Amino acid sequence: MAVTINTLREYKRNGEAFAALTSYDATFAQIVSEAGVDVILIGDSLGMVLQGNDSTLPVTMNELEYHTRCVARGNRGALVMADMPFMTYGTVEDALTNAARLMRAGAHMVKIEGTDWMADTIRALSDRGVPVCAHLGLTPQFVNKFGGYKVQGRDEHAAERMIEHACALEEAGADVILLECVPAPLAARITQAVKAPVIGIGAGSDTDGQVLVVHDMLGLTCGRKPRFVKNFLAETDSVQNAVAAYVKQVRDRTFPAEEHTFKA
Ligand code: KIV
Repeated sequence: MAVTINTLREYKRNGEAFAALTSYDATFAQIVSEAGVDVILIGDSLGMVLQGNDSTLPVTMNELEYHTRCVARGNRGALVMADMPFMTYGTVEDALTNAARLMRAGAHMVKIEGTDWMADTIRALSDRGVPVCAHLGLTPQFVNKFGGYKVQGRDEHAAERMIEHACALEEAGADVILLECVPAPLAARITQAVKAPVIGIGAGSDTDGQVLVVHDMLGLTCGRKPRFVKNFLAETDSVQNAVAAYVKQVRDRTFPAEEHTFKA
């Protein structure tokens, strides 16, 4: 049966962890969905892992739309989430126009990065039938504001604000919250505070779901490997088995382990 937002809500109600992975083409979409991945993210990380840029900022709508079409063709029942590229949702009008392109290309949900300023955008999208994932914490499109790729929410004031933002964005209509690179205790508090399923990357094992960039979990990271990455191919002999191991370890909460987690 195809995964929908209701499936993710049910996982959360039952305390069952679910697995998400990025994919950018039909072959990987088929492999990961057949291995039991619940959510496929066409991340703007493609700007780094496919295109070789040093950030996600150069990725365009045409490119995201193209990769969403490719993934939708290969997908076998996962929920397809597509990133909205940098500055394609800077106004509500732009968000509606560009989200429509991704939904027509085969996405079931769009993901946008930011904080409370996104509430009006999320409300407008949600009211018009576009499910939204709100990405908080280390939002890579803000790398130039952050001055680098840094763990977010480390002090109590920043942590409180992140909890408030998650609640405000859920209130505005966000169906899923994604937390990137936040201390595990804060991610656990946010996961408790909202009804929406929370997906983590570098956010500890207490979120409702986990996501990784598929290249990273296959040991294809170029440059420095982030703390939260595990190479699942190192433990087995095929891409299919590596993805299956990831799904299993997410579901039984053995991944992420302590060594993949930011404590504070
Ligand atoms: O673009 C992406 O792949 C992402 C994940 C890192 C969550 O946003």
